[in-house]
Amino acid sequence: MNTFYVTTPIYYANSAPHLGSLYTTVIADCLQRYQKQRGAETYFLTGTDEHGINIERVAAQKGITPQAHVDAIARAFAEMFAAFGLDEAHGGYDIFMRTTAPFHYAGVAELWRRVMAAQTPKGRAPLYKGRYEGWFCAKCAAYKTEDEYLKAENPDDAPNCLEHLAPLELVAEESYFFRLGDYAEKLLEIYQETDFIRPEARRNEVMSFVRGGLQDLSVSRLKSSVKWGIPVPDDPEHVIYVWFDALSNYITALGFGNEEREKVAGFAKYWPALHLVGKDILRFHAVYWPAFLLAAGLPLPKMVYAHGMLLDAEGRKMGKSAGNVIDLGLLRRYFSNDMARYFLLREVVFGQDGKVSYEAIAERANSDLASGLGNLVSRTLSMLEKYCAGRVPSEAIPETLYLPAKRLGLEPDAQGLATAWELARDQFCAHLDDFAFSRALETVWSVIARVDKLISESKPWELVKNAETRPLLEAVLYRAAESLRWLAVLLYPLLPEATRQINDALGLKENIALQDPTKLVWGGLPAGTQTSIAGALFPRLDKNKIMAEIELETKAAAAETPAPAGVVAEVVTEPQYITIDDFAKVDLRVGLVLRAERVPKADKLLVLQIDVGEAAPRQILAGIAQFYEPENLVGRKVVIVANLAPRKLRGLESQGMVVAASFGEEGRPVVATFLEEVPPGARLK
Ligand code: ME8
Ligand code: MG
Repeated sequence: MNTFYVTTPIYYANSAPHLGSLYTTVIADCLQRYQKQRGAETYFLTGTDEHGINIERVAAQKGITPQAHVDAIARAFAEMFAAFGLDEAHGGYDIFMRTTAPFHYAGVAELWRRVMAAQTPKGRAPLYKGRYEGWFCAKCAAYKTEDEYLKAENPDDAPNCLEHLAPLELVAEESYFFRLGDYAEKLLEIYQETDFIRPEARRNEVMSFVRGGLQDLSVSRLKSSVKWGIPVPDDPEHVIYVWFDALSNYITALGFGNEEREKVAGFAKYWPALHLVGKDILRFHAVYWPAFLLAAGLPLPKMVYAHGMLLDAEGRKMGKSAGNVIDLGLLRRYFSNDMARYFLLREVVFGQDGKVSYEAIAERANSDLASGLGNLVSRTLSMLEKYCAGRVPSEAIPETLYLPAKRLGLEPDAQGLATAWELARDQFCAHLDDFAFSRALETVWSVIARVDKLISESKPWELVKNAETRPLLEAVLYRAAESLRWLAVLLYPLLPEATRQINDALGLKENIALQDPTKLVWGGLPAGTQTSIAGALFPRLDKNKIMAEIELETKAAAAETPAPAGVVAEVVTEPQYITIDDFAKVDLRVGLVLRAERVPKADKLLVLQIDVGEAAPRQILAGIAQFYEPENLVGRKVVIVANLAPRKLRGLESQGMVVAASFGEEGRPVVATFLEEVPPGARLK
């Protein structure tokens, strides 16, 4: 039997779900429902990625164990998916995968062992022990790449963390390395010859990345620095790198490396997968993952499709920091699940970035769902009720009425409309096969417009007045009702809730979840079927009212919870207090900027001379050069931390720090200042 295995990324269990996490899961859900209709045996995976230093740290901040922390986040994700009808009970995913599952540990260990025992195409061991060397900021508790730090001029000076302007520590520890480069040729061949990476533009990006040369990849950490992870088999001092662990979930979920699990799902049965991912993590899926699989001698995924990013109205990527742009609770309160799905599938062109706002969702819902689909459904069902006592009439037109029928745009055998539907059916399925959700919907909506036009032009409310024209009325209503049957089957994967209501209102017993859209044939709706009025499928939304209410609620919520200051603070639920004495340790003073200049060859740094009421001005360096022209700062009163230990940046001593608010993805700084007159040196307390 034909099988179909689709996956979403497993989302980091460090903070609550947001619209981005909903997006990929909705797309995967739509595809698996479509494939199930087409007769495939499907398996659909989504879930959470639960290991790593980040999660260890967040849990420590909350004062709970990492396990308790990931349990809470996984529950929040599962509840969110259930609320949006994406869980098993609603015909959605087959597994909510968690990397803390025992069978996953077994599978990852098995994959590691296989790679360990193999040889690369160059005849070498894929894994070897070496030393990992890199910079680490204790304050960020994170490893830093070159573009995240300021290089020191003096070769003896350590580089500085851009965020904290504090010297970085060099971390050098033993680590396992994976010989990624040995697989470059094979990977390029696969990209070239198959549809492994889609869309095309993304494939080209990955190809040039691989052609640029692949470094060996560090795939373990010492247990002394990262505890929360899966131990390296036979070397328990090491913990497996979180991406090796996370990517393996796609096969361990099916039972790779665990017989019990294999019986439940079936690696042999379902692998290989279609991986849906955001373009942010394409490299991990299209380079590292297939290389690990090649090394282990396992079949590669069928395809990695990298979609675009959901953006807010200003074009910022929605995520943990900007995730509040659409609140999933408010989304559910004001819009139906199908309205949200419709927007994501229709307005955001799959593969490209797309802007999202409550307003745009409301506009789409009104124009396409309330006025388009919803209106056709309600007018058809209510005319059937009113004119035919809720019974589907016959579509036949007596020969004597051929001429008047023609004038109303009614072909005797429904040929025109039937052909339009058949064409739309074929195009719709071709678009879905090609991930073109938006076009698939456009195709169907063009037929909705045609049926609408047939009703408006034939005016059933006039045809009903005359016994002679009654067969024409019936013919029109049959065509409209049969169109609803087609709509329910075609649109089911995209709008599973509304289409079930349409099918039920038509009095049909067939399960649309199992009806193959490619097999739709005109005339399947039996005359005499008892229909009923569906509740308003898509009520018209009062956009202005909704926007005003959402604004109020958002403000109220913001007043209750302090603004998030980065990923860590967001998940800290317990307030973390300091005493007034703790605060008094920080000597904050008013400073007057006397001079400001750029630091040569450091595009982020300004060097400021600041009067803080002392005998001589202080020299202070600030990483704000990308946002402030030096001359605009001269004469300004700022806040400085006066008792910070002096430190050297780029060979220049910094005697304190300028206080600034920081916001947005790029951490844009805004320097704190005063509205009233205040002398330099005044203390803030
Ligand atoms: O990367 N627009 O987890 P993650 C569209 N744990 N999709 C978005 C999005 C946005 N603004 N924001 C997030 C990880 N996504 C790893 C994955 S897989 C073996 C491990 C979606 O929580 C999109 O699918 O950062 C993106 O790739 C994913 O969430 C990243 O989720
Ligand atoms: Mg991410």
